[in-house]
Amino acid sequence: MKVTVVGAGAVGASCAEYIAIKDFASEVVLLDIKEGFAEGKAMDLMQTASLNGFDTKITGVTNDYSQTANSDICVITSGIPRKPGMTREELIGINAGIVKMVSSSLIEHSPNTIIIVVSNPMDTMTYLVHKTTDLPKNRIIGMGGALDSARFKYRLAQALEAPISDVDGMVIGGHSDKGMVPLTAHATRNSVKVSEFLSDDRLNQVKEDTKVGGATLTKLLGTSAWYAPGAAVSGLVQAIACDQKKMFPCSVLLEGEYGLNDLCIGVPVILGRNGIESIVKINLSDAEEAHLKESAAGVQKTNGLLEL
Ligand code: 2OP
Repeated sequence: MKVTVVGAGAVGASCAEYIAIKDFASEVVLLDIKEGFAEGKAMDLMQTASLNGFDTKITGVTNDYSQTANSDICVITSGIPRKPGMTREELIGINAGIVKMVSSSLIEHSPNTIIIVVSNPMDTMTYLVHKTTDLPKNRIIGMGGALDSARFKYRLAQALEAPISDVDGMVIGGHSDKGMVPLTAHATRNSVKVSEFLSDDRLNQVKEDTKVGGATLTKLLGTSAWYAPGAAVSGLVQAIACDQKKMFPCSVLLEGEYGLNDLCIGVPVILGRNGIESIVKINLSDAEEAHLKESAAGVQKTNGLLEL
């Protein structure tokens, strides 16, 4: 199993590290445009192999896509991260050109690959990869919902004063501060609806804290987060690499599902060796449906900024 991660910045390097530590891939190629940067990160990571107990071989390359040839899975993290006060959508001007070039270069050497998009604005970048590569829709996956759901569970566990392992919850919709749809009505504490433990007001606070989870960290860190994004991507890579048939909220091209067309947005999917094995239709309340449609309108608006 060969995985390529484009972008050796904090998210890409964290993703490579988590993939290596999980030890399900034979090789991870870390590629960056900055001379020697990916090579250095890969060497540093390989020097943790005996300490963290993995045999995955991590290789760093500078802008040489021939080294990514025949990758089973390619992760695109390249592009600029947001600064405090910025929205993800404001990154489109620079990141669209990068993602277009990167995705074209990847499929030139790995025509059968599955692409996972992380670069922001992620839903629009995922849509751009469809337009650029014309890969089958099951092989283009946007990572946002897995990260947002992890933040949702973190906030729920805080509110419940419960261990994270007791909590489950999912966020669908756009990966944007206003577009996320945390499914509080579906969230549980060990199979019991969280609404049996938390007031509507407290649940609304959990929803709002979840939606600005990225911005909260960007304000604290001065740049975008990387540990949770990297870990979220590694979970999607593992589900595909190990054919786990696990369900995640991922940004995928919709062609009528959830009453939405011609956009990529976060919905529940089953991930396995074929990438998106299926899109899962779950029952949403009228309010959740309305929120998802509102979120889709926001994604469509950002898609309209693309020069396709
Ligand atoms: C985040 O929410 C980078 O979009 C990513 O942290």
